[in-house]
Amino acid sequence: MTRKNAMIFGGSSGIGEATARALLVQGQQVSITGRDRAKLSAAEQRLSEYGQVRTAVVHALDRDSVQRAFEASGPVDHVVICVSGGKGAGLFRELNLNDVRDALEQKTIAQLTVAQVAAGHVREGGSITFVTAASARSVVRGTAGLAAVNGAIEALIPVLALELAPIRVNAVSPGIIETRWWDGVPATTRDALFETARATLPVRRIGVPEEVGELIATISSAGFITGSVYEIDGGSHLVTQ
Ligand SMILES: NC(=O)c1ccc[n+]([C@@H]2O[C@H](COP(=O)([O-])OP(=O)(O)OC[C@H]3O[C@@H](n4cnc5c(N)ncnc54)[C@H](OP(=O)(O)O)[C@@H]3O)[C@@H](O)[C@H]2O)c1
Repeated sequence: MTRKNAMIFGGSSGIGEATARALLVQGQQVSITGRDRAKLSAAEQRLSEYGQVRTAVVHALDRDSVQRAFEASGPVDHVVICVSGGKGAGLFRELNLNDVRDALEQKTIAQLTVAQVAAGHVREGGSITFVTAASARSVVRGTAGLAAVNGAIEALIPVLALELAPIRVNAVSPGIIETRWWDGVPATTRDALFETARATLPVRRIGVPEEVGELIATISSAGFITGSVYEIDGGSHLVTQ
């Protein structure tokens, strides 16, 4: 049996790296991309005990670099899109809309750019999995900008699943996961948020990237799943604020 070929956009840390690990364990051939060569090399080194990964420097908003990565890899079975910026949070009255514009560019448009190019390279029955966020649906003060950014992607999942069939299109929508994404948030804000989450979430803890990576690996290989958004948020969608 030929090995499946997977490409992860934003695979040099956090959820993308954990997904690479899960796909390697499944026996897939895996390529990871990111903007920073040194971060990619460090991830390649960490992943080497699970298998060999290919790496490529790609900026998801640079369509040509995305195109080159697909051309170099050949036909792909599974594409996972983890890229994002870090802006867009804050109470709506004070929210800087330029930050929201930046977040829409760095996450929504960046993920759509990858998906549009991927649509020409994914094999029939293969998959595209977006990584959105629980903020698309959770009703939490200070997350209107993030809701707009992630909600926009989640709204188009069923449409893409129809248009791009037989390529399958899904999203995984995580709650708070301990990754480098939080390095951009002031430590006091982050620590307070983590503490509240640990106290209020039904599971009484925040998430780790491995559990999201394993879910993505499962969904991408599950040939009967398309047009779906999977929440993995420790039950945050059940908590009223
Ligand atoms: N952590 C959480 O609590 C959480 C919760 C909900 C949703 N999410 C979502 O999960 C996804 C993965 O985030 P993470 O937590 O795993 O963060 P992370 O550790 O910072 O990973 C982000 C990855 O994307 C790459 N990247 C970012 N922008 C890129 C671009 N324009 N082009 C190419 N690569 C790019 C980064 O590498 P370079 O910087 O080197 O490019 C890195 O490999 C994001 O979409 C995030 O919004 C995270």
